[in-house]
Amino acid sequence: MKALATLMIATSGLVLATAASAAEPKAADALIKANGCTACHTVDKKVVGPAFKEVAAKYRGQKDAEANLIKKVKAGGKGVWGDIPMPPNAQVKDQDIKTIVQWILSLK
Ligand code: HEC
Repeated sequence: MKALATLMIATSGLVLATAASAAEPKAADALIKANGCTACHTVDKKVVGPAFKEVAAKYRGQKDAEANLIKKVKAGGKGVWGDIPMPPNAQVKDQDIKTIVQWILSLK
């Protein structure tokens, strides 16, 4: 019984992972490359800016995080992660910033 339950949990995790990678993450992954975010950020290591996984962990459970991060990415700014500023990313489409921020916040 226990083995069966474990198998079921493992399988549902796999289904979720597959569904997730088929939708948003791929698009966002391409967007961060196309928009130059990857010059300063990676998913799991700090480069010039914080790792996106750390960003997700910092704001997990905060309901205004998405709106605030969209503004921050667009306008740039500093002081949250250190003294190095993020330059404004005003050239990136609002919809694309939204897709990227939702993806960042979904990272674990
Ligand atoms: C020139 C380097 C650079 C580029 C390019 C850059 N960032 Fe950043 N980013 C930073 C730095 C530095 C910080 C930390 C700012 C701070 O401490 O407030 C940061 C912070 C962030 C944060 C967290 C903001 C917060 O207030 O916690 C997010 C989300 C983010 N960047 C997303 C992006 C996205 C999306 C792009 C591409 C559209 C991008 N960044 C491009 C350097 C960069």
